[in-house]
Amino acid sequence: MSFGLSRGKHLDSGEYGYVTDDLPPHDAGDFDPRDWFAHPKRRFELEIGSGKGTFLVQQSVLDPETNFLGIEWAGEFCRYAADRVRRHEMKNVRMLHADATEFIRYWCPDGIADVIHLYFSDPWPKSRHHKRRVLQDETLRQFHRLLVDEGELRLVTDHAELWAWYEEHASRHESLFERREFERPPSAGSTEVVGTNFERKFAREGRPFNAMTLLKK
Ligand SMILES: C[S@@+](CC[C@H](N)C(=O)[O-])C[C@H]1O[C@@H](n2cnc3c(N)ncnc32)[C@H](O)[C@@H]1O
Repeated sequence: MSFGLSRGKHLDSGEYGYVTDDLPPHDAGDFDPRDWFAHPKRRFELEIGSGKGTFLVQQSVLDPETNFLGIEWAGEFCRYAADRVRRHEMKNVRMLHADATEFIRYWCPDGIADVIHLYFSDPWPKSRHHKRRVLQDETLRQFHRLLVDEGELRLVTDHAELWAWYEEHASRHESLFERREFERPPSAGSTEVVGTNFERKFAREGRPFNAMTLLKK
């Protein structure tokens, strides 16, 4: 299925986009996604489900000393975001076409991410699909492993039932994370929480948003 994002133009990820075929076998060891950047020792933030890459494009220019990796499993959206990053020559941004939960679990070393951003994640409202939600007990344990000490998981959603799910998971894992107020990133517009594409679409529909930050203990 095509979303028609390219409007007939060729989307070129150049050196800014990776796919799972670029990854080594996951048990080969020694892999670190920070090595995809010219300055691998800099702060590292990861966004799960970047969509068209709007948050990354807006935030990375304001924070050029931080490396940002966007992970998006819809190929066309991932290529669209990577093409956008390439055209703007955003040296501190990379896109990966993958299931972020698998990538984190099987490829990522411990303690590498300063922040994990998860904005307007798919709510999967039917009970039988809840297992497809990004946030699960196991992914929370993996996020805890991935984050540096006092690293942050930032969550925003418009979906009341997904918000309740987030709150339940946060309560269940109080030994791993401390719940804090969500602080809007500097790239958010004056009336925005983050300023992603879905936020803008939902704001036009008048939907309320909820947000929290979980700080790694
Ligand atoms: C509702 S969209 C929100 C996109 C963007 N964050 C925004 O706010 O505009 C959710 C996105 O997450 C992606 N996604 C869902 N599960 C994912 C996963 N496990 N790994 C990577 N991307 C995922 C979907 O393909 C989709 O593009």
